[in-house]
Amino acid sequence: MLVISDIEAKEILKSKSKKIWVNLYRKKIDRDELKIDEETLVKIASKKGCYRIRNGKVERIEISADHHYKLVLIAKFHAPTIYIDGIHMHRIKDVFPEQDARMKVSTLDIKYLERVLDTCTGLGYTAIEALKKDARVTTIEKDVNVLKIAKVNPWSRFLFRGVRVGRANILIGDASSMIKKFENEFFDKICHDPPAIYSSGELYSLEFYKELYRVLKPNGKIYHYVGEPQKKFQRKDFARGVIERMREVGFKNVKRCDKVKGVIARK
Ligand SMILES: C[S@@+](CC[C@H](N)C(=O)[O-])C[C@H]1O[C@@H](n2cnc3c(N)ncnc32)[C@H](O)[C@@H]1O
Repeated sequence: MLVISDIEAKEILKSKSKKIWVNLYRKKIDRDELKIDEETLVKIASKKGCYRIRNGKVERIEISADHHYKLVLIAKFHAPTIYIDGIHMHRIKDVFPEQDARMKVSTLDIKYLERVLDTCTGLGYTAIEALKKDARVTTIEKDVNVLKIAKVNPWSRFLFRGVRVGRANILIGDASSMIKKFENEFFDKICHDPPAIYSSGELYSLEFYKELYRVLKPNGKIYHYVGEPQKKFQRKDFARGVIERMREVGFKNVKRCDKVKGVIARK
């Protein structure tokens, strides 16, 4: 199986070379390995998205269910993002998804074998960054369709490798209820990377923050993505509200970190 995007298809159509770059794997392959004809390439090039090629058969990586999910490569040699109902789940302006995940996770100073809770798996980029730091990662995703897309995304492979070698655990369910299963002070670090509040209010609630506080070890660190919803909803004090609620449940040193559009704090 091979995954290519509209971006490669356009390049292959333009190029005369026998060797082609497959951005999603950051490697060159033989043009013939694709086993697809020019007409199919034209089709792929004409519609933004990623495509799985198996035995000469081409399938767009998308799912239409209660919501619509698709994998989209934004820029060559960078990780793709997932769109859910037309909304991308990663930052794609001024930063690439994998870089953003790296910056978010680097705020946590993860040490060897520390236990990390990654509240929202998505395509697994933040979990992968924690795994690269040799953490033991528990990640939660409530939407199985997102995980189905992650399973065929070449950039998510390290997460599933982490599961195979016993370093990562993917739980399926709502993080706001799943978190109740964990013992007090179970995690050394928490990466909380939720979607915007309008679709996941439960992940910004005082109740959930109490749980995040409970499962974190004393002096443990948390990163909480808040984005810039004030731009969309004209609510200037959105991050301030998050900070206040985090303080209210007991977090200390709660401060904004603009570089990663979030809030960091300690227990
Ligand atoms: C911004 S994305 C996370 C990106 C992810 N950290 C990554 O690196 O790819 C948010 C994800 O949270 C999931 N989600 C939304 N509400 C949730 C909930 N209550 N519990 C767990 N996951 C949730 C969404 O389905 C989506 O995949």
